[in-house]
Amino acid sequence: RTVAVLAGGLSHERDVSLRSGRRLSAALRGVGLTVEEWDTDAELLGRLRDHRPDAAVVALHGGEGENGSVQTVLEMLGVPYVGTTSQGCRRAWDKPTAKALVAQADFPTPEWVVLPHSTFRELGAQAVLDAMVDRLGLPLILKPDQGGSALGTQVVRDAAELPAAMVGCFAYGDTVLAERFVEGVEVAVTVVEREGGPEALPAVEIVPESGVYDYTARYTAGLTDFFTPARLDPSAAKSVAELAVGAHRVLGLRDISRTDAVVAADGTVYFLEVNLSPGLTETSTVPMAVEASGTSLGAVFADLVVRALR
Ligand code: DAL
Ligand code: MG
Repeated sequence: RTVAVLAGGLSHERDVSLRSGRRLSAALRGVGLTVEEWDTDAELLGRLRDHRPDAAVVALHGGEGENGSVQTVLEMLGVPYVGTTSQGCRRAWDKPTAKALVAQADFPTPEWVVLPHSTFRELGAQAVLDAMVDRLGLPLILKPDQGGSALGTQVVRDAAELPAAMVGCFAYGDTVLAERFVEGVEVAVTVVEREGGPEALPAVEIVPESGVYDYTARYTAGLTDFFTPARLDPSAAKSVAELAVGAHRVLGLRDISRTDAVVAADGTVYFLEVNLSPGLTETSTVPMAVEASGTSLGAVFADLVVRALR
């Protein structure tokens, strides 16, 4: 049987995905699977038709790999695949939608507003920025509403930085998610589906040297310290695990996900976002959590491939 690892793609996270794909392919070969690495492009549908793998694993990040497009193609052709379904992608890929659904399930998430680009023209740019700061306070964080690897994300501590930060964020999309910035312990929690249902792996604590976990801090070895398991007291560790499993369920995710959260000084655990195709690179947190749980990336994904084939 042949498993196609779909990586690359057309999004801003193409390079990250190629790294995830290479690592995952090596891990799957290491446990005896026959793997083909597919650099995914606009020809995917035709290639899948002509040369159908027995199963696929989506290791694409951003854009068509997480918004449900590639999943729709796989579903139309009936190719079994590892990862969240097209429907789940549509719920989880849009950050404001995911926050609203997770908040409805009574998990705290930092207060937020959604600002389409047109709002600034329609209502006056300075008036919109003033209202946003009145509502969220400072510091705040701006994120493209659909995006990953912190690309376009801006932490704003001073209102004077806002116009430039907005421009930087709009460079990655037409709508900005602005959120109150919660200081605290940043954690990433991997969830893997097993026979008994979704399970949280040990949380990974993230301490970027620069203080901000941006693209460079994510993908340059040595620029961020990781602690696995996170240095949390037992009740906070339990809360972050419950949040990650809760988000996975509420959003209807499948197979594997990673929830990013922050534990504030008062112990409140805030949901930040969920990643339905989490990074698997040398500096990504999912492989760290998998190893800390006593298994290997190859074993975890081989098991998910077996489940997809059933
Ligand atoms: N979007 C990147 C790949 C991550 O979540 O790890
Ligand atoms: Mg993300």
